Amino acid sequence: MCGIIGYIGYRDAIPVLVNGLEKLEYRGYDSAGIACLPHQKERFFVIKEKGKLSALKEKLGDFSVEAHLGIGHTRWATHGEPSRVNAHPHIDAAGKIALVHNGIIENYATLKNILQKKGMRFLSQTDTEVGANLIGLHYHKTPKLFDAVQRAVSELHGFFSLVLFTKEDPETLIAYKRSNPLVIGLGQRENFIASDVTALLPYTREVIYLEDEDLAVITAKEVSIYSLKTRSWVKRRSSTVNWDVAQAQKQGFPHFMLKEMYEQPDVLKTILNKRIQKNGEIFFDTLSKKFQTQLKNIERVSMISCGTAYHAGLVGSIAIEKYAKISCRTQVSSEFRYGDSLLNKKDLVVLITQSGETADTLAALREAKAKGAATLAIVNVVGSTIAREADAVIYTHAGPEIGVASTKAYTAQLATLLLLAFYMAKIRRTIADADFKKLIKEIKKIPQHCAKILKEIKKFETCAQKHYTRRNFLYLGRGCNYPTALEGALKLKEISYAHAHGYAAGEMKHGPIALIDHEQPVICIASNSFTIDKMISNIQEIRARDGIVIAIGTEGHRELEKMADDFFSVPAVPEILSPILTVIPLQFFAYKIAVLNGRDVDQPRNLAKSVTVE
Ligand code: F6R
Repeated sequence: MCGIIGYIGYRDAIPVLVNGLEKLEYRGYDSAGIACLPHQKERFFVIKEKGKLSALKEKLGDFSVEAHLGIGHTRWATHGEPSRVNAHPHIDAAGKIALVHNGIIENYATLKNILQKKGMRFLSQTDTEVGANLIGLHYHKTPKLFDAVQRAVSELHGFFSLVLFTKEDPETLIAYKRSNPLVIGLGQRENFIASDVTALLPYTREVIYLEDEDLAVITAKEVSIYSLKTRSWVKRRSSTVNWDVAQAQKQGFPHFMLKEMYEQPDVLKTILNKRIQKNGEIFFDTLSKKFQTQLKNIERVSMISCGTAYHAGLVGSIAIEKYAKISCRTQVSSEFRYGDSLLNKKDLVVLITQSGETADTLAALREAKAKGAATLAIVNVVGSTIAREADAVIYTHAGPEIGVASTKAYTAQLATLLLLAFYMAKIRRTIADADFKKLIKEIKKIPQHCAKILKEIKKFETCAQKHYTRRNFLYLGRGCNYPTALEGALKLKEISYAHAHGYAAGEMKHGPIALIDHEQPVICIASNSFTIDKMISNIQEIRARDGIVIAIGTEGHRELEKMADDFFSVPAVPEILSPILTVIPLQFFAYKIAVLNGRDVDQPRNLAKSVTVE
């Protein structure tokens, strides 16, 4: 939530900042802004606009400013409505410091009161301006911005990151991280800082991930990091990012979401190639011997995550219980972190997250560690906070996901969790060799099944056209496709703004059946399963009440095809693998409905890709 970028070096700063903000816009798009120090000038150049980055770009078109130092921000509003005055960067009351901020300063109201009593005037309703003014106050007392920031952050409560500079020192950017991510991009005679690596990729692949309580001093020539935790200057190792720049571009697709849906066969192929060895065994390169032994001995598993990742956890949990024979529960992070979990060192807690930065999931990880459980992160973004803080990490290798609605990251999570379940079954000897081999053989075919579905997906377009004006949808599924029903409904509501509800089909008679009429489509996920007859009975009950049935079923299921108003088929696979396939038509259905309604598919209202505030 909120994207930050900073630049210092020989290039024209404004294009670097704007390009960076383009990559970061998925983190929030309520407003955007830039502050820089024009060459040989003593005044800041600040430009901000409400709404998307395009509005800022349009406004920038009229200006020509030469600057080599600057900061930029794209906002997801927390304190204060989306408006130009609340947009970042904020300048302190003395007009000396420009600052951008991601996160929440929890004690801003108290501090604002104190500062107002000292005669300070505030222009915005943001917590950010309080931060800028507090730093400004300390800067008035000490000649060094570094010292001022150090003093100010010790008085600020909450979780946030800051990037700032003063017009009195055009050679230095200062950055501070407490929980919310910041990554430094290392260049030749230039350096960068951003909320995530995608903004840095056009310029450098050498990066340093800041750690909590790091205070960085960044000049064009060097980067120095002081840890407020250890009260010492520290060396943080740099790493090389191997994400492809092209992956973070639309490559001719009208939307990132559509492009990312079409990337799924390749992502799955990458995962399977990495994880399944020539001898058919599953291998996770990042799990130490010690952690593998822990996996053998744990007595319970908890899957903790949010949103789409939570749905992946539900499937993973079914697979772990079915194959590894360990009791496994699934919980959303926000509930887990404030619950009274009875974890101990015999527990494994699996944190599933695309971004690796979700505030609630991070808090859950810390809670699980404090209770002595073994923690395993299933993460897409390499080097993210959760990936670094967990005892062990397995990356999902989906590549950058820019569309706010998760697609390829979800199927990558599913594939990874299924492999983890099969792996745990193998090392705990709870699966027969022949069954294991069969699952491996079948999962290896998943990328080609996925490609086939995507090839035929256009057939499903007429169904979306028929129903795109409807405002209510019900999604039903059973077993490992109950999470698919939840995920299908989430995809539709988040990008089309229609009301969609996912339900366990067996629960239909306990309430939702009252909703069935000739207006509300019911999307039934009815691929081959030992409960297929139950699902067919549910469909009959819907039809008997004049309901509209859209069925996702297995190829060749004539009875289902005849019964449904619309039918989309997926290839036959063992049931536990089917959620990877059945979700694809649902992603496409949601996408089409959103497009037909003229929605902003990649940047739906009120949402942000990375939820770094709770
Ligand atoms: C929905 C979606 C969200 C995320 C959720 C968790 O399409 O993307 O529900 O799944 O915010 O985010 P991560 O996986 O980054 O922890």
